Order: sequence, then C-alpha cells, then structure tokens
Amino acid sequence: MTWEYDTILTDGLTEREAYKLLTGIVVPRPIAWITTCSEDGGVNLAPFSAYVILSNNPMMIGVSVGRRGADVKDTARNMKRTGEFVVNAPHVSQAEQVHFSAEELPHGVSEVEVLGLATVPSKAVSVPRLADVAVAMECVFDQAIEFGLSRTELIVGEVKVVHAKRGLVRDGKIDTAELEPLGRVAGPRYAGIGPVRSFRPLTHTLYTEQNGA
Ligand SMILES: Cc1cc2nc3c(=O)[nH]c(=O)nc-3n(C[C@H](O)[C@H](O)[C@H](O)COP(=O)(O)O)c2cc1C
Repeated sequence: MTWEYDTILTDGLTEREAYKLLTGIVVPRPIAWITTCSEDGGVNLAPFSAYVILSNNPMMIGVSVGRRGADVKDTARNMKRTGEFVVNAPHVSQAEQVHFSAEELPHGVSEVEVLGLATVPSKAVSVPRLADVAVAMECVFDQAIEFGLSRTELIVGEVKVVHAKRGLVRDGKIDTAELEPLGRVAGPRYAGIGPVRSFRPLTHTLYTEQNGA
C-alpha cells in the first residue's frame, strides 16, 4: 500500500501548532506526577509528560517544563529553590486526578488538598510523596538546560530513593501489569498501556539465521 502524505514545514508553525503536532506524535507518554514544596511549605502537585530517562549511573531523569507566558511554572521554581522533588507514578485509575492537578490554583492553595490526596514523608528529601501510588522516586535537582525561544527547561534530577509497593519489584524488575501506569495521548486524553507482547531476549539469532553465519 502506498500512502499519500501531508508535508508540514515546521518553520512557519506557531508554538501552539508545533505543540499540537509534537504531543500528538510522541505518544503515549508516561506521566511524572511531581510533588514539590513551595516557599510557604505547602505541597505543590502537577503532572508532566515530557519525561525521560537520562542515566542509569547515577540514576537520572529529565522533565521538560515549559513556561506560562514569561513566568516559570511553580514546579520548576520549587525544584530549583529547594533542590528537591518527588516523581510519583500515577495508576491508570487516577487519570481524572492527574488531569485536574494541572489546574492553576490561587497562590497558597495545594492541589494535593483540593484533590483529597494523601501524602507521606519521604526518606531523603523534605518533599512528601503521594501515598496512593505504587512507585515514587525521591530526586535532587542536578541542572536545568534551556531550549528554544520559548525557554523551555529540561530539568534534570538524580534519583536518590525509589519507593515501590511491596511485591511490585521481583528479581529487580517492576511488574508492569501490576503497576498499570497511566499514559497521556494527544490533548486531554489518557490511556492505559493495553496488551503487552514479549519476545525472547536479543541473541542476534535473527541476523545469523538470515545470513547463515
Ligand atoms: C497529563 C499532563 C501532562 C503535562 N505535561 C507537561 C509537561 O511535560 N511540561 C509542562 O511544562 N507542562 C505540562 N503539563 C501542564 C502542567 O501540568 C501545568 O502547567 C501545571 O499547572 C503546572 O503546575 P505548576 O505551576 O504548579 O508547576 C501537563 C499537563 C497535563 C494534564
């Protein structure tokens, strides 16, 4: 089958148009449901789906945080000011809470309280983690790298402590079926991961079979 294609030159796109395309193409995205502490000690919670693994040694993750107009988002400001944050992994059933935790609330009002979410103290950082998630990673701020005219920041954090619900890690591996992570697709839409297929580990047999080597 030969498809017809629409060819979109990115030079003339507005930021909004580019955002719509990118967030429709890079799907599904995992969600870092991030807790930070604001100046008044309140717990700030917001979801971030531009989220990536950066290093295994030490364990590092990155989150791309855009700006709100010219302003830095509270999460980025808190991460840099306190040097600490927690990445909580939402369950597929928490889609609605995740979605509404992105709402801008009046200063001093915590998303955690408005959504009725419980928190528990962390071990290595002063930012609490969410109580009702199967996995949470306590992180310390490493660096922020700015990209583009929109001055989006890739915020890099080193993972100091991983909390995993008892039984979730078996043989050092997380059981994805039990984790049931929430993913974000384009716009205000969410999905579970669906059926999982697995293959035998890579042994390069495909190449040797085809090449008779
Ligand atoms: C599922 C979801 C994923 C999001 N991902 C990002 C993201 O990767 N980067 C970003 O800057 N904003 C993202 N947002 C928007 C922020 O969550 C939103 O701007 C939030 O109000 C920021 O809160 P804060 O000001 O307390 O940091 C996302 C929103 C939703 C609902």
